[in-house]
Amino acid sequence: MDEGVPLSRLTSTVVLLLLLLLLLSFEGCNSLEPLLPDLSPNAAPQPFLPILAPSPLTPFTNSTIPRLSGECALNFTAAESMMSVTSIDCWGFFAPLLANVMCCPQLEATLTILIGQASKASNMLALSGSASKYCLSDIEQILIGQGAAENLRRICSIHPSNLTKRSCPVSDVEEFEKSVESEKLLAACRNIDPVKECCEQVCHNAISEAAEKIAAKTSQVLTLNGPGTLPMNSSTVVHDCKNIVLRWLASKLDPSRAKEVLRGLTNCKVNKVCPLVFPDMKHVAKECSNTVRNQTECCQAMESYVSHLQKQSLITNLQALDCSTMLAMKLLKSNITSDIYSLCHITLKDFSLQGLITQFMITIEESGCLLPSLPSDATFDQSSGISFICDLNDNIAAPWPTSSQLSASSCNKTIKIPALPAAASAQSGLYHRGVFFLVLLLTSTVTAVLS
Ligand SMILES: *[C@@H]1O[C@H](CO)[C@@H](O)[C@H](O)[C@H]1NC(C)=O
Ligand SMILES: *[C@@H]1O[C@H](CO)[C@@H](O)[C@H](O)[C@H]1NC(C)=O
Ligand SMILES: *[C@@H]1O[C@H](CO)[C@@H](O)[C@H](O)[C@H]1NC(C)=O
Ligand SMILES: *[C@@H]1O[C@H](CO)[C@@H](O)[C@H](O)[C@H]1NC(C)=O
Ligand SMILES: *[C@@H]1O[C@H](CO)[C@@H](O)[C@H](O)[C@H]1NC(C)=O
Ligand SMILES: *[C@@H]1O[C@H](CO)[C@@H](O)[C@H](O)[C@H]1NC(C)=O
Ligand SMILES: *[C@@H]1O[C@H](CO)[C@@H](O)[C@H](O)[C@H]1NC(C)=O
Repeated sequence: MDEGVPLSRLTSTVVLLLLLLLLLSFEGCNSLEPLLPDLSPNAAPQPFLPILAPSPLTPFTNSTIPRLSGECALNFTAAESMMSVTSIDCWGFFAPLLANVMCCPQLEATLTILIGQASKASNMLALSGSASKYCLSDIEQILIGQGAAENLRRICSIHPSNLTKRSCPVSDVEEFEKSVESEKLLAACRNIDPVKECCEQVCHNAISEAAEKIAAKTSQVLTLNGPGTLPMNSSTVVHDCKNIVLRWLASKLDPSRAKEVLRGLTNCKVNKVCPLVFPDMKHVAKECSNTVRNQTECCQAMESYVSHLQKQSLITNLQALDCSTMLAMKLLKSNITSDIYSLCHITLKDFSLQGLITQFMITIEESGCLLPSLPSDATFDQSSGISFICDLNDNIAAPWPTSSQLSASSCNKTIKIPALPAAASAQSGLYHRGVFFLVLLLTSTVTAVLS
């Protein structure tokens, strides 16, 4: 986390650090927390107050004009607002915390839209090997100029080859449209409902079907090459062809519509997987296995275990549910058979990033922040820094899974726990939402000086 702090920033940083110290001595470090409203589920919904960052933020938001290669034919104007949203979702030191739910999905959608839009002129749904290198580097330069992290390639595992056709045999628009039922594909995906899509997978299935159709052209090519040629791993080809299909969709929709579709599709995938890394649980196993001998000791072990999970990343409420199930399965495997969650009052929020994360110097209210299952983008404001919306309606006890729940699909899971937003968009009135602010300046300054 200590890389990429330009020296030039350090100079302005010192001045700002003084401002910051003034602010802190005025507020007192701990009194930042009382600025935040009570989050107990019984409290009436009330707006969050921003933690005020000292102004001006300008030195950190001055977009540097990037030096571009001149070798990339993508039209950056066509996705200008997409790119500035990406810079905020992937902002500097926060990018790793938002990588899985916000930053990388938004970056991938941006790449897809840029190539899709460019295909209108080039007739190609993929970049060549050399163009992909220049374009990825130009995109990075633009995003970094707007404040994005400098190591997005690594954070999001993006390589230049992700912009090419890879193993997919079709990248020509005309050939694509001849090979698939393009009207049907567009109809299935033009207006996806991001909640229903995750269960019914109408657009997802249409994309898979189209990808399989164009992937099938590989075997025709190979047959022409004569027998004896090794067949390409077909699941890899289909996977690569799905990107071609997405780019085609992005060329048929306007960028903002395309973004909704792409992010909606990614969300379904994101919400199915717990992104947290579970450390070894020997200690919990020792204190809690079989019959719990001493509840205090077992719960202390559990608390300490969960605190390691709370330092990792921001997750959605559905991911928290995945994580609680995954942890329970691991506990069951360690012979912990009683419901430790209810014994130790573990809630879904316990899986979220929380506390004062000193590593990042981010103030997060004591009770944590779970993102809604359909997280909105982060926003940037000169006075309050980076902010994003937390779902505050998630003080839900972590469910100790029964065997039927372990096999239930994510669509059925939400039925068991009504407060989880299977219908978040449909019934948003039911959910208390608050805007969560990260103190951008605080972070940049302190990290820069400490590193
Ligand atoms: C901000 O950008 C402008 C031009 O875009 C430049 O003149 C100015 O020096 C920059 N300020 C800082 C602090 O980098
Ligand atoms: C790039 O996209 C913008 C907005 O869609 C459009 O106005 C402009 O003509 C495009 N430029 C080129 C070179 O195609
Ligand atoms: C890019 O390609 C690599 C393989 O070279 C793959 O592992 C990675 O998941 C791809 N990234 C994305 C965002 O699809
Ligand atoms: C293709 O590769 C994937 C992993 O890359 C593997 O799981 C799968 O079994 C392979 N399929 C075939 C048909 O070889
Ligand atoms: C449980 O452990 C705590 C701390 O080690 C100890 O104070 C307490 O007496 C123990 N309780 C029982 C019932 O053994
Ligand atoms: C779980 O208990 C069984 C029998 O009680 C034992 O054989 C097994 O080794 C235990 N597993 C773990 C991970 O402790
Ligand atoms: C949901 O669960 C019911 C029974 O519990 C089952 O019949 C149904 O197929 C499940 N639906 C999905 C989408 O898994």
